[in-house]
Amino acid sequence: KKSEAVQAALGQLTSTAQQSYSGIRVIKSFVQEGAMYTAFEKASERYRSGATGLAKVEAMYFPSMTLLIGLSTLLTIMIGGIYYIQGNKGIGVDTIVEFVIYINMLTFPVSAIGWTASMIQRASASQKRLNEFLQTTPAISSPAADNNLALTGDIKLENVSFTYEHTGIEAIKNLNLHIRSGERIAVVGKTGSGKTTLIQLILRLYDVTKGKMAFDDHSIEKISLSNLREQMSYVPQDGFLFSDSISANIAFGTKWMDQERVEEMAKLAVIHKDIVAFPQGYETEIGERGVTLSGGQKQRISIARGLMKQAPIMIFDDCLSAVDARTEKEIITNLSGYLHNKTSIFVTHRVFNLFQFDKIIVMEDGEMKEQGTHEELMKKRGIYFSMYQRQLQEEQVL
Ligand SMILES: Nc1ncnc2c1ncn2[C@@H]1O[C@H](COP(=O)(O)OP(=O)(O)OP(=O)(O)O)[C@@H](O)[C@H]1O
Ligand SMILES: [Mg+2]
Repeated sequence: KKSEAVQAALGQLTSTAQQSYSGIRVIKSFVQEGAMYTAFEKASERYRSGATGLAKVEAMYFPSMTLLIGLSTLLTIMIGGIYYIQGNKGIGVDTIVEFVIYINMLTFPVSAIGWTASMIQRASASQKRLNEFLQTTPAISSPAADNNLALTGDIKLENVSFTYEHTGIEAIKNLNLHIRSGERIAVVGKTGSGKTTLIQLILRLYDVTKGKMAFDDHSIEKISLSNLREQMSYVPQDGFLFSDSISANIAFGTKWMDQERVEEMAKLAVIHKDIVAFPQGYETEIGERGVTLSGGQKQRISIARGLMKQAPIMIFDDCLSAVDARTEKEIITNLSGYLHNKTSIFVTHRVFNLFQFDKIIVMEDGEMKEQGTHEELMKKRGIYFSMYQRQLQEEQVL
């Protein structure tokens, strides 16, 4: 019990420390150094008192064992001595010596029992925490058979609903959608409308709660996970980059470094000029030991990384939100050619009128409210229409 509590306290202490480093900018700008210091101090204190409590119990054990052994030896000699002096029951010095030897032979096994018991308790507390990880079965299982399907990029969703387990939020409601091979799709909608969730279902980062999904008419559960994900390239919304060189980040996931292709993709993502402006160019380190990039630079590097991967399905989750309108236009023009013959899905807040989409999907509260081409949706004068009008007004103000 006690060692479990101590382990939990240690876990909390390390997570407090880790957070204060990764969130150092937020902490400084909100002038919360003092509060964080107090929180860390409290966590340390909890661990210290727990650990010293445990150490005290252990420290008590050996002296008391030694004391007991000493006492029993003493007692044997004393009682034996008295009997011997009285000449009682015919006890001789040899008998007393024999007894003392027996006691000493007994002490080691007996004290070992206590010692082992405490070891077992500590180990089982640690094991319990490890088992939480080890015994978690992945929520998403893929068939053992390693299939080698080459997908063409045809995606079907039938009555798909999805609820986030922890929160119970139903993020996708009864969605029916057919994306044909080579189509260019836009997913638009307000924040929190379920756009990213839809993408994550397509990537099978989650399994649907209800309904069916199929790629080229192969049910999604029949395709092995690695097979499925190899056919998709994904530029996530947060544009995560590794603490490594820029070229390594762009070439991430490719089998060998092809510098020429890295630069070609960087040009498509309109980041090449920014990269060569760094003193070490493509070898510049990103992250803790290197340069700190702007939000827009990060987004464009992660687009270049997405383009490196030759996949029939390309997914871009709101990856142009931090670049200016002119750069956005340039990137979209470049992509327009590159994505020829690929199924591509763009999630966006803004409506790009200059990009010809085969289908625009309008999401609201997890439901698909409208779908169609730009012209069709404009005629409808619904959600898309008012979004577009609002955007035009904003652009005029600028
Ligand atoms: N990991 C998660 N666990 C629980 N609920 C989530 C999780 N991710 C998203 N949600 C919830 O699901 C709903 C849809 O979120 P989603 O991220 O799909 O929206 P979005 O359309 O991508 O929004 P944005 O434009 O801001 O990126 C929201 O109500 C959100 O709170
Ligand atoms: Mg999102």
